Amino acid sequence: MSSTDAVRAAVAAVTDPELRRPIGDLDMVRDISVTDGRADVSIVLTIVGCPAASRIESDVRAAAASVPGVTDVQVDVGVMTPAERKALTEKLRDGRAPRQMPFGPDSLTRVVLVSSGKGGVGKSTVTANLAVALAEQGLAVGLVDADVHGFSIPGLLGIPAGTQPTRIDDLMLPPVAHGVKTISIGMFLRDGEAVVAWRGPMLHRTVQQFLTDVFFGDLDVLLIDMPPGTGDIAISIGQLLPHAEVLVVTTPQAAASDVAIRSGLVARQTGQRVIGVIENMGPFTLPGGTVIDLFGSGGGAAVAAALSETDPVPLLASIPLSPALRAGGDDGTPIVVGDPSDAAAMAIDALARTLAGRGRGLSRRPLPLSLG
Ligand SMILES: Nc1ncnc2c1ncn2[C@@H]1O[C@H](COP(=O)(O)OP(=O)(O)OP(=O)(O)O)[C@@H](O)[C@H]1O
Ligand SMILES: [Mg+2]
Repeated sequence: MSSTDAVRAAVAAVTDPELRRPIGDLDMVRDISVTDGRADVSIVLTIVGCPAASRIESDVRAAAASVPGVTDVQVDVGVMTPAERKALTEKLRDGRAPRQMPFGPDSLTRVVLVSSGKGGVGKSTVTANLAVALAEQGLAVGLVDADVHGFSIPGLLGIPAGTQPTRIDDLMLPPVAHGVKTISIGMFLRDGEAVVAWRGPMLHRTVQQFLTDVFFGDLDVLLIDMPPGTGDIAISIGQLLPHAEVLVVTTPQAAASDVAIRSGLVARQTGQRVIGVIENMGPFTLPGGTVIDLFGSGGGAAVAAALSETDPVPLLASIPLSPALRAGGDDGTPIVVGDPSDAAAMAIDALARTLAGRGRGLSRRPLPLSLG
């Protein structure tokens, strides 16, 4: 191989951190020449001021410099023409028309909703940690924050305020936090702006856009953090994703479990399948061995039993009350990475392993997950 070809191969293999594909596949590599050990490399990025620009440039420089015989590297960074960008977005859509939802019934991505009847039972905290735990296991994970009025995912994942998706024409690239591609209405609001006045159609359009216009690429799992209850958004998601799987979160308390059962039954009415129950805020053990069960016990098992009339619904996890889980959420470091030996982190990690080891909906379809 000539040194020019070697530099071209090395540069082409550099990954775009946002699109997560080699820049060679993304048609970003232009002229390359090597003269007397000096490599001149020109690449083009999608947009002016691309946030990943300096990272790509330094990765390209390092890749070229790693080729034997190259002693000096000059990188020229340009920008795609509108026609080149259009060709790229078409390639990324992989034949899908604009505005077409990639997560339909034939998609290989498992779509898993995390829902509950009651608010404040820990859906978002569990979803954020579960997403990170699945990504840690090597799965490609997306997370949609469908709680438009009460969004909390950006904070839980430590996504800095003001972080916005990068746009390539009409495609939005979701920010990546702890390996999870994430989208939330919180990324579109100016400081202090609220969406309190939004009603059904606006909410529907918002979640629909999250599912159609955000470029998640090939995902193994898309988690959806639901708002509490069974309001407009739950109905919209039911229409958009009737084949989704549902995890129902409840506390151990009887009052919480009654509404949790109802939310599971409502999800089922849209065709969604309840794949398991997660009990959160369960009893925890003090260092001396004393067990504190603030919210009682048994709620998770009761919900699982009540939802098991037609299909068996297992209690998939019991997550104890955990000050570390709460604190990790407050400062944006999910405990599955920040404090993995905490009992709640271990319960969530075990839940992630259970989910990752299972095909979609327990059916006998071939395993859609690419583990590893
Ligand atoms: N196992 C736990 N131990 C201690 N605190 C917890 C636990 N799970 C969640 N929390 C805390 O409980 C509060 C509510 O959690 P979270 O926001 O995740 O619930 P939610 O069900 O998403 O709420 P909402 O219905 O408002 O969306 C948060 O302050 C969170 O840190
Ligand atoms: Mg929430």
